Amino acid sequence: MSSNSSSNSSRISGFHKLGVPERVQRVLDFAGLPAAGLAPLFHGTGHLPVALADQLIENVVGTMNIPLGVATNLLIDGQDYLVPMATEESSVVAAVCNAARQCHDTGGFITSMSATQMIAQVQLVEVPDPANARLAILEHLDEIRDVCNACDPVLVSLGGGFRHLEVRIIDAASGPMVVTHLIVDTRDAMGANAVNSMAEKIAPHIESWTGGRVRLRILSNLADRRLARARCIWHVDAIGGADVRDGIIQAYEFAQMDPYRATTHNKGIMNGVTAVVLATGNDTRAIEAGAHAYAARRGWYSSLTHWEVTRDGHLAGSIEIPMAVGLVGGATRLHPMAGACLKIMRIESAEQLARVIAAVGLAQNFAALKVLATEGVQKGHMSLHSQNIALMAGAQGDEIALVARRLVELGTVRIDVAEQELEALRGGA
Ligand code: MEV
Repeated sequence: MSSNSSSNSSRISGFHKLGVPERVQRVLDFAGLPAAGLAPLFHGTGHLPVALADQLIENVVGTMNIPLGVATNLLIDGQDYLVPMATEESSVVAAVCNAARQCHDTGGFITSMSATQMIAQVQLVEVPDPANARLAILEHLDEIRDVCNACDPVLVSLGGGFRHLEVRIIDAASGPMVVTHLIVDTRDAMGANAVNSMAEKIAPHIESWTGGRVRLRILSNLADRRLARARCIWHVDAIGGADVRDGIIQAYEFAQMDPYRATTHNKGIMNGVTAVVLATGNDTRAIEAGAHAYAARRGWYSSLTHWEVTRDGHLAGSIEIPMAVGLVGGATRLHPMAGACLKIMRIESAEQLARVIAAVGLAQNFAALKVLATEGVQKGHMSLHSQNIALMAGAQGDEIALVARRLVELGTVRIDVAEQELEALRGGA
């Protein structure tokens, strides 16, 4: 494909066989982006200037690079996406490509979002009359709205701002606590700064209305008013038949019932989710914490996805996951690669990004369950892992593929064997 041509399909067969420069060009063509400005970002390793890194965190001594891959084949709400994923784990990007390929021609993913609301918590202690204090706070709804909105007129002008008030009583060991939730629509911002400012501003008012003492004023990462949802139907014939479908459902049921399995099941989902969150400069820890807390919302830790059989015998998968990602602020705005990744996906709102990430999480889970329920992970994993081992043994250029292939043939992906094979290869050359 020439650098001027563009394609709207994310179904790029043989993408993985291209060299890195050709892949970069295909991605830029797909996104309709000028090579002049963005291509250098992808070819180099120093895309985060150290002077900028020094502004982002403290005591900077350098930067650390993570591979950035692009998942193909994703059809989401009728639009094709190439999705950048930053991860150090082999197989993760390939798994999404495979899962998405198997549902691309039958409609892909359908997504939605509950809202873009964040919760800030204000903890009030030393309240002997918590029920009375609770109502006193609720009575000040209008004032609370005004104080919160005055903290961030820009957010309000963009259609966001204070939405709801909740006040809960928690019986703690040291006595009752009255916990106020400020529920704020943060639109395209992740929202931590906005809601934390509001919580700090409202705190003295809450003290004066109740006579109690405010301690913590901070957002909750359990962003259950910011749920991203994705669903997809994989046709039974496209995934290898009814036995594969049933294996996937039994794998899911295992995770649903058993926290030991659910942890690994959800870890697999987060392989995809976190990779896109990181590629876009968002807060991976916030997303991870919110996802796992949400997975335990019923009082036991369970699967973030749901799998079932449709009336036509196809496989229906769905996911619902807190997704507090933003487009403005912090590394998302400042990190040049994060900006490039958003452009590749043609992201226009935080909601759109959240929905794409949910679809990637679902695809990742499909791929993991399918392979686990059939051939097992080691076969595919080992062929990719063998390349790392070949590299570690000192293989270079063409030697990498040759040694890796030999390790797979031998069924022993070990560094000592790779060293022997490399020696034999060089000796025989
Ligand atoms: C490995 O990073 C992820 C898996 O363990 C996920 C799973 O078991 O569902 C394969």
